Amino acid sequence: MGKGFYISKPVGIVSIILCAGALATIIALSVVYSEEKAKNNNQVSPTDGGTTSKPPVTTLAPSNEPWDKYRLPKNLVPDHYNLTLWPRLTPDLTTGLYIFTGKVVFFHTRLLHSPVSRSRSACLCQQEFGSIPLRGKGMYHLYTKFTGELADDLGGFYRSEYMEDGVKKVVATTQMQPTDARKAFPCFDEPAMKAIFYITLIHDRGTVALSNGEEKGYPVTIDNQHVQKTVFEPTEKMSTYLLAFIVSDFDFINNTIDGVWIRIFARKPAIAAGQGEYALNKTGPILKFFEKYYNSSYPLPKSDQIALPDFNAGAMENWGLITYRETALLYDKEFSSNSNKQRIATIIAHELAHMWFGNLVTLRWWNDLWLNEGFASYVEYLGAHEAEPDWNVKDLIVLGDVHRVFAVDALASSHPLSSKEEDIQKPAQISELFDAISYSKGASVLRMLSDFLTEEVFTMGLRAVDANGTELPDTVHNIMNTWVLQMGFPVVTIDTKTGVVSQKHFLLDPDSEWIVPIKWMKTGAALGTEWVLANLNVVGYYRVNYDEENWGRLLNGLSTNHQLIPVINRAQLVDDAFNLARAKIISTVLALNTTKYLDKEREYMPWESALNNLDFFYLMFDRSEVYGPMQDYLRKQVTPLFNYYKTLTENWSKVPDGHMDQYNQVNAISLACRTGLEECQNLAKTWFKQWMDTNNNQIHPNLRSTVYCNAIAASGANEWEFAWSQFKNATIATEADKLRSALACTKQPWLLNRYLEYTLDPKMIRKQDATSTIVYIANNVIGQSLAWDFVRARWSYIFTQYGGGSFSFSNLINGVTKRFSTEFELQQLKQFKEDNAEVGFGSGTLAVDQSIERTTANIKWIAENKQNVLNWFRDETKPVF
Ligand code: BES
Ligand code: ZN
Repeated sequence: MGKGFYISKPVGIVSIILCAGALATIIALSVVYSEEKAKNNNQVSPTDGGTTSKPPVTTLAPSNEPWDKYRLPKNLVPDHYNLTLWPRLTPDLTTGLYIFTGKVVFFHTRLLHSPVSRSRSACLCQQEFGSIPLRGKGMYHLYTKFTGELADDLGGFYRSEYMEDGVKKVVATTQMQPTDARKAFPCFDEPAMKAIFYITLIHDRGTVALSNGEEKGYPVTIDNQHVQKTVFEPTEKMSTYLLAFIVSDFDFINNTIDGVWIRIFARKPAIAAGQGEYALNKTGPILKFFEKYYNSSYPLPKSDQIALPDFNAGAMENWGLITYRETALLYDKEFSSNSNKQRIATIIAHELAHMWFGNLVTLRWWNDLWLNEGFASYVEYLGAHEAEPDWNVKDLIVLGDVHRVFAVDALASSHPLSSKEEDIQKPAQISELFDAISYSKGASVLRMLSDFLTEEVFTMGLRAVDANGTELPDTVHNIMNTWVLQMGFPVVTIDTKTGVVSQKHFLLDPDSEWIVPIKWMKTGAALGTEWVLANLNVVGYYRVNYDEENWGRLLNGLSTNHQLIPVINRAQLVDDAFNLARAKIISTVLALNTTKYLDKEREYMPWESALNNLDFFYLMFDRSEVYGPMQDYLRKQVTPLFNYYKTLTENWSKVPDGHMDQYNQVNAISLACRTGLEECQNLAKTWFKQWMDTNNNQIHPNLRSTVYCNAIAASGANEWEFAWSQFKNATIATEADKLRSALACTKQPWLLNRYLEYTLDPKMIRKQDATSTIVYIANNVIGQSLAWDFVRARWSYIFTQYGGGSFSFSNLINGVTKRFSTEFELQQLKQFKEDNAEVGFGSGTLAVDQSIERTTANIKWIAENKQNVLNWFRDETKPVF
């Protein structure tokens, strides 16, 4: 059934590549990996006797001084640091600020003699760097004392706050990646400048101090203060961005697996409520899985994971002390949905995967970030599958990564996976790399490689690397280069009449070419009689188009016997068709026709794929005359699914067994309520009212997000206030998050505007949640323009106060503009770009251009499709007599 093909443009099938044996253990990835490994090994300690790095060009021209550049000169490298930090968890009496003090001794070597020069080293507070005059070769010790602010800015050494039994508690914690270690202490803050760290934390007695190594604490008296001194085991040789220092009064649970000590830390009440148990139970098996996968034992004696009330990203792979936002680590079956549970399993797997790939072996510079994040984003599914083998979670990479990134990689403003080292210099450029391309395209392309080499060969390649670097066979190198160096992806067109297979860049630049491994299946013996289907299980990072006849046969296959087509491919047919239509390669009517069989579909993946694509229709049409007929059609399609779940769950009293079925039950309810199915809306309102009346929440955690949202949308201020107070009092962050997103569903403009104001008040909405809350409001058709006005009016404040996050700006800009589809909105967007040229957009810079491009495309798309779409929905909902 499955066959592998290379195709090249335009001649079609050229050769069969089932020659994994010949490729042996050497694969593209292993080479990059091994080169990096070799480079890491080259980061010498002084006794190694030097490196191969070239002498720096020293010149007196001011424009060429090392401190005029963002990168550190390579003539001085750190060997080890003795670092002591003392964060104060109460404000300083004179300044009112929370501060930390510290001292650091760096031991570093100056490798190459250059008679008079300065070497830049530290990156202290406001300055990007400090400089030290040095002469001659040898080992230097540098000692500095420093003070910094322990601000609530989520970057560097920062503070997180929460209430416990009416008392405010403060945690000192860190987020260094990518360039904020320099905000915590003077250091050589580049990933390749690895060193050993001897860390000491000073803190109040009764609090716990954690860092990368194992801790040992004892009481001391400093300046008449009776404090605790915690000294940590020296770290491995490691990068600064992986350091972590935390002082809290958290509690923990622990176990030991084959000598590795595993602990889960969280706020005391969360630990007492057992919210760390799920993470603790899954960490051991996932760790064991990766030891097998990498064929290398976990490199440290301990693995700590900690849930923090304020945290910008989802989680961070600090070596030996992984930090999480609470929703990404804490689980409670009374409150958490199956989706929350899946996120916890996959995020743990993702961060544990970095313990080897990223931490032990580190990329030399940020331009290759995609390999680090893409790899972890691929293997997170393998690790999660190990933890939850019944879920079929590996299939979900198609929705979560492949389809997700296709949407952005189809734009001309996309970019290739790899960047040039010299193009990535400033912190904002580095932050910008943490995007869907690095994560999801990286994951998709590596998955494709693993599939076509076979997983066995792929992992053998990973394991076989050695410090010498291995020569890459040209074939594999060339194949990977087409995916890594070029942006975008191909659409492969299969003409079943002629047997010709051709490709072109999906959307733009028709000259690009990829080497595409194709897997396909067909029914019937001969071409032309039955359907042909390519890209089996969507392992390939490409879209597929067919001749009209074959599309017709596939549609017929869907409506007569859809089970014959594998479930992942049913999801893909829908996604390909909708996107080919957006690119004007096929007609929109053909795309809409792929949804006609959905009244018979019960599986999650095709439904989810359809809903994601129909979401685009909602965005384009929920303010237009198309809306009514579209709602009628979708209500008609979803009603059988709604009834199916009603029966299956015995009138909503049971939970479906399967993980995917649980997801699809949520889809059934969401879409039924969204399209106005009265029975569904009444259900949501009744359940919510019951909760308000009895103060006893009987709604199943899986259904809470959609039920809360629909109930709040259908009601007024009372319900909103109730939900807000439940949000403020929630004892678990996942419950708070469900309410926070549902609060954005109200149809009352005044409530939405007030909610927008709350997002910039950290007492109301935590800073970590500000931008995502604004995006929730923009998703609501009533909130769209309110959110856009709000962001425009407050941009410079948002930019300066909420600047830390890497994902948040691009998400914010994409989020508040994604409904844009008129000339007027386009003008506003361009004006916004111009007005804020001075302030800038930081890590959201690319998102502004993507939004302009998307808006332009939307305008054209609506002009060309609106009437057709309207007619189609009308036809499909015409009463039959
Ligand atoms: N290294 C990242 C965390 C990070 C992201 C640091 C951006 C600095 C800037 C971590 O490994 C990661 O990728 N976290 C993801 C979760 C993952 C499951 C995709 C996150 O935070 O969402
Ligand atoms: Zn990661």
